[in-house]
Amino acid sequence: MKRLMLATIIGIAVAVVAWHSASETRAVTADKAAMAPVESSMHEFMEYVFQPTYKRLKVNMASAPSDNQGWKAIKSDALILAEASNLILLRKADKNQADWNAHGVHSREYGGQLYRAAKAKDFAAAKKLYAQMLNQCNACHKQFATGKYQLAP
Ligand code: HEC
Repeated sequence: MKRLMLATIIGIAVAVVAWHSASETRAVTADKAAMAPVESSMHEFMEYVFQPTYKRLKVNMASAPSDNQGWKAIKSDALILAEASNLILLRKADKNQADWNAHGVHSREYGGQLYRAAKAKDFAAAKKLYAQMLNQCNACHKQFATGKYQLAP
């Protein structure tokens, strides 16, 4: 009898905890599932997400990787820049939002192509795409950062 009561109490406790965490999961989904910038300053976003990634990529793109580690480093930074370009689309420009979005999309597209060239270990293609990606970065900097930050391959 005692055993049965204990089992019942434990059963109820487990059900309550499960119900509670399930409703908590629903609350998070409803309130917070929308994408939102963590750092609202574009300067900080570029300085701490894009700049270190670009600096590493520049070193690793200086010559063809000699081993898989080298290719992995290029793949990683290309994908970070491509995906981070998606986050640009979350941000509001002071004006010319359509241009802003277009720059973000172009940066994402060339970053994605660079990632794929690195995946295929095609250094000639990667070099070309890296320069083309930087052209997209620079085009936005020209329009939205008063022409500063013209990045070289
Ligand atoms: C949609 C526009 C846009 C795109 C696309 C863009 N940037 Fe930027 N970037 C900016 C703006 C605006 C600034 C200047 C922020 C400020 O100082 O207010 C900036 C600044 C920078 C800086 C200077 C940061 C510092 O602290 O000195 C670097 C480096 C940089 N971007 C790298 C990149 C790279 C690499 C890419 C492409 C893969 C890229 N950006 C794509 C808008 C863009």
